[in-house]
Amino acid sequence: MKNTFKYIIRLVVLFMAFSCSNSSDDSPTFGPTELPDAIQASFDFTISPSDPKVLLLNNTTEYYLPYTGVWDYGNGSSAIADGAGVKEVTYDTPGRYTISLTVSSDGITNTISKDIIVDEIGICLNAVCGSVNTASLKGAATTFSVGTITRSPYVAAGGKHIEILKNEFNNLTSEYEMKMNIMYPSEGNYDFSAGDAIVGFAQANDMNVHGHALIWHNATPSWVENFSGTDAEFEAMVEDYITTTLNHYKGKVRSWDVVNEAFEDGTGHPLRNSVFRQKMGDDYIKKCFQFARNADPDVILFYNDYNMASSPTKRQAMFNLVDELGDLIDGVGAQMHISYNGPSAANIQAVADGTVSRNLKLHFAELDIRANPEEDTSLTSLSSDRANAQKDKFKEVVQIYNAIPLDNKFALTVWGVRDNESWLLDFWGVPEWPLMFDEDYNKKPAYAGFLEGLE
Ligand code: XIL
Repeated sequence: MKNTFKYIIRLVVLFMAFSCSNSSDDSPTFGPTELPDAIQASFDFTISPSDPKVLLLNNTTEYYLPYTGVWDYGNGSSAIADGAGVKEVTYDTPGRYTISLTVSSDGITNTISKDIIVDEIGICLNAVCGSVNTASLKGAATTFSVGTITRSPYVAAGGKHIEILKNEFNNLTSEYEMKMNIMYPSEGNYDFSAGDAIVGFAQANDMNVHGHALIWHNATPSWVENFSGTDAEFEAMVEDYITTTLNHYKGKVRSWDVVNEAFEDGTGHPLRNSVFRQKMGDDYIKKCFQFARNADPDVILFYNDYNMASSPTKRQAMFNLVDELGDLIDGVGAQMHISYNGPSAANIQAVADGTVSRNLKLHFAELDIRANPEEDTSLTSLSSDRANAQKDKFKEVVQIYNAIPLDNKFALTVWGVRDNESWLLDFWGVPEWPLMFDEDYNKKPAYAGFLEGLE
């Protein structure tokens, strides 16, 4: 059966090659006939929601010919032939295990391996061990990090703010103190003190840090905007800034937004004519990613931008850039500054699909959900109808994120803890309640929506 199928495929390929070589001048021409790629093994896994010691393994290999698969669970048991459906494997002894899947077809064999770490409690999420608390956002989100932002004065003040950070979140972003205007206020003088306070707090509390953002037109110090040297000196300065910053945070910051919001919103979404573009050229983004990659090959590099869901044309512009960056980029940061009534689930899904199809990590970044996009200035509180509509949108966003393959998962970051601290209040200048906690640190329906999105 397998051989018959193989010969049919070969006949089809031969027929195509023959018909192309005889095509007349006005018929479509074809390039050289391409043979299908060799088989590539692939699998993903999740931790069982009912037992933290059980791994659910899923063979995701796709091939046009029938193939056989063999698992090595890495736990000393003998090789197991792959069958249909998800495999449940128990790991109850702490340690590191290498799981391999070997697939074979048409005389070609390919193997893929992935490591997991197991502690006394069970399989460690994203290889981060520690007790799992399903009564929190980070405890419930078993396959990705849950992030939020902070400021160095909040960390220094302690109290309820840091209690919530520690209980609920495991990925921390500096709201504004790890941007260029703060880290590099004058030529030759770096100031990492505020960022260090945030990173130190995160490290002390087992949180990952997402670095945001190396290059952003809205946080460029004035000495850079008015740079007096040559273009070559400007580029050398940017390389020094990126290298110095990544070296400073090496091993402490897991990921960086290298460039933030490079595209215009208007027709065609051209690159903003920032000082970086003016002095370094249209490929300044690629240069910045290369500087970052050279400085720290292990850190995860993102491009981050807004309206990725609501504007299909801007989304396409962003994916075109991502395709040009090739191996220099690891992930897409889609800022999720959205509203209770839009963008649609289909448009949010399109961001996920475009990222997954490129084998990149997805960061649903900067999530806040406007409850008052109509900008009604007479509102003095959040109505329960709106609170519930906002809850449904939180749930929808989390559901979409949670459904992407494990390999593409990274983090979902909420842009703020309490409603009254949201940047949107200043940005729109109207009453707003866009986050999951109210002014008194009470959980809103939005918080329950987040949890429900994970069910
Ligand atoms: C905002 C912060 O929340 C403010 O505190 C700061 O004054 C300006 O920046 N997109 C981004 C974020 O990428 O860095 C912005 O954060 C919000 C919009």
